[in-house]
Amino acid sequence: MNGILDAIEKRSSTRSYTEQKLTQEEIAVLIKAGLQAPTARNEQEIHFTVAEGTNPIVKEIEDEKNSLNGSAQPAVNFYYNAPTLIFLSADKDFPWSAVDAGIAVENISLAAEQLGLGSVIIGCIKAALRGEKKDYFAKALAFPENYEFEIAIAVGYKAAEKVPHDFDEAKNVSYI
Ligand SMILES: Cc1cc2nc3c(=O)[nH]c(=O)nc-3n(C[C@H](O)[C@H](O)[C@H](O)COP(=O)(O)O)c2cc1C
Repeated sequence: MNGILDAIEKRSSTRSYTEQKLTQEEIAVLIKAGLQAPTARNEQEIHFTVAEGTNPIVKEIEDEKNSLNGSAQPAVNFYYNAPTLIFLSADKDFPWSAVDAGIAVENISLAAEQLGLGSVIIGCIKAALRGEKKDYFAKALAFPENYEFEIAIAVGYKAAEKVPHDFDEAKNVSYI
């Protein structure tokens, strides 16, 4: 893979992973990519929590999500058995937290692609992490004081390749 445009073109969400764990070096590259993302006013307010998919807190989040959804246990969990999860949290009172977290998570996603890894951005646990058990999960996930969940990303080795999504420039773009 040559560079950033290649990574953008080839990336797509991975929802099937091998059991191979990421190395510490790979995780360090992903975290650095997140830390190097721009933030409003260079506030650098995004916090990154790295957890293995096997961490018991991940199962607790899954259970809380399912209980809120009122759904039967789905065939796959929210992180698709990826070996590594990164939870991004941010200052709940900073007006650009959500945008900054989105930029940071995409940096991680593209870095993963460049490393030959797969990833999927995870938003479906937001209600669980911001609901009744918000303080409990914030502590368990080591969020800093006054921080709340913004977005997460699951990363691992791809068990299947997927074609990047199609798009419709005529519908989504105006040149004025
Ligand atoms: C903010 C955000 C939240 C997302 N949350 C989830 C999620 O909870 N579960 C999931 O499987 N995919 C999630 N995705 C992935 C999208 O479904 C995916 O990016 C979209 O379908 C386009 O597919 P692609 O990533 O393969 O191009 C999320 C993506 C974004 C940007």
